[in-house]
Amino acid sequence: MTLIDSPPTDRADATGFPLVDEDPAHHRFRVHRSTMTSPEIFRDELERIFKHCWLYVGHESEVTNPGDYVRRPVAGRPVFMVRGVKSGTVHVFHNTCTHRGAVVCRQRSGNAKVFQCFYHAWTFDSEGQLKGVPDREAYGEKLDFDALALKSVARVESYRGFVFACFDPDVEDLVDYLAGAREYLDLIIDSADGEMEIIKGTNEYCIEANWKLLCENSIDGYHAVSTHDTYFKYLVALGTDLQGGVKGTAKDLGNGHAVLEYAAPWGRPIAKWEPLFGEHAKDEITALRADLVAKHGEERASRMADTNRNMLIYPNLVVNDIMAVTVRTFMPLAPDRMDITAWEMAPRGEQPQLRQRRLDSFLTFLGPAGFATPDDVEALESCQQGFNSGGVEWNDISRGMAREQRGNDEGQMRTFWRRWQQQMGPSSYGEIR
Ligand code: FES
Ligand SMILES: [Fe+2]
Repeated sequence: MTLIDSPPTDRADATGFPLVDEDPAHHRFRVHRSTMTSPEIFRDELERIFKHCWLYVGHESEVTNPGDYVRRPVAGRPVFMVRGVKSGTVHVFHNTCTHRGAVVCRQRSGNAKVFQCFYHAWTFDSEGQLKGVPDREAYGEKLDFDALALKSVARVESYRGFVFACFDPDVEDLVDYLAGAREYLDLIIDSADGEMEIIKGTNEYCIEANWKLLCENSIDGYHAVSTHDTYFKYLVALGTDLQGGVKGTAKDLGNGHAVLEYAAPWGRPIAKWEPLFGEHAKDEITALRADLVAKHGEERASRMADTNRNMLIYPNLVVNDIMAVTVRTFMPLAPDRMDITAWEMAPRGEQPQLRQRRLDSFLTFLGPAGFATPDDVEALESCQQGFNSGGVEWNDISRGMAREQRGNDEGQMRTFWRRWQQQMGPSSYGEIR
């Protein structure tokens, strides 16, 4: 883990940084607004970032049984994740028939022993093997069933249940890629005795804004009090003590990943009571907390129970461990448009009343009609509209450069942008500017 604002080590091309303009001597960090609006930059992002990074596909708990599958778009490409009936392995296949291209897995999710292409009815098993071809004899003896198996995405690995894929066969191993983010995933997973599951059902929505605005927003402590004013007023009305405010730190986790970690006034289903949960929940939460302390010691248990984390795993996975645990990924569709999918994650086998409290907590703040999400969507779309006004070339992301970084500064966003610039390379977009 490196300190926020320590410059990347491989900036040999430091002269070619016109889109991300860093001037430590003057405590200035700027990002050119064409990064949010240019179709050329958008195309290059798909090529240089989304083809080479590990991208979140889904969680193993979504395909628990042999033959379970879910269809997913990853970086805009149709793929599907399936647990092989014979091997028990989780595969991620390109969702395209090896005959003439049709999408093979057409349902969003389900359980199947075989996938039959609807076009000419070629059939593949859950391990991807080609099993059946109608009028087989038409091809003669040499039809190579192995060569015509479904194609796996170049690299597929999982970390403690989180399944990632990468289209670049030469990418570093997932554990190395995750770098400092691993410890934060561990913290969440360990707090549930290692058994987390995705709760069925998703939030899916679209934002008319550049995808990087959501990267910034997801780890932005600065906006919380102003943008989410209504939520804080609501907590106060319920009797929550906000005197302590939101205090925390941000960390650069390597490879563009960053986390914001802070103590917050709201409750946490895992072990921190608040009035929203009701008086009757107090004893239960006290017992949960005692259990965490017994298992993990006071210090780690307190971090699990009392502190919140908003983490960005570069480029497009957000894991929020706040008043509930959410997993959110987003796919750029155009310079000014993205699709977002969010899931809630919970300890496997959680008691129904705890699960209910968690779901309430999740929907109150993070749901599509919750206190946070619509406000954030409005803020991001507003930025995108503002870019169209022109007249201002740069976004300023320098907050906190003149002092030791605090949670509501912008160092974590600078972490993201430095990595972005490294991957995009020296700008060839002079003419766009
Ligand atoms: S395209 Fe799938 S069987 Fe022809
Ligand atoms: Fe927000």
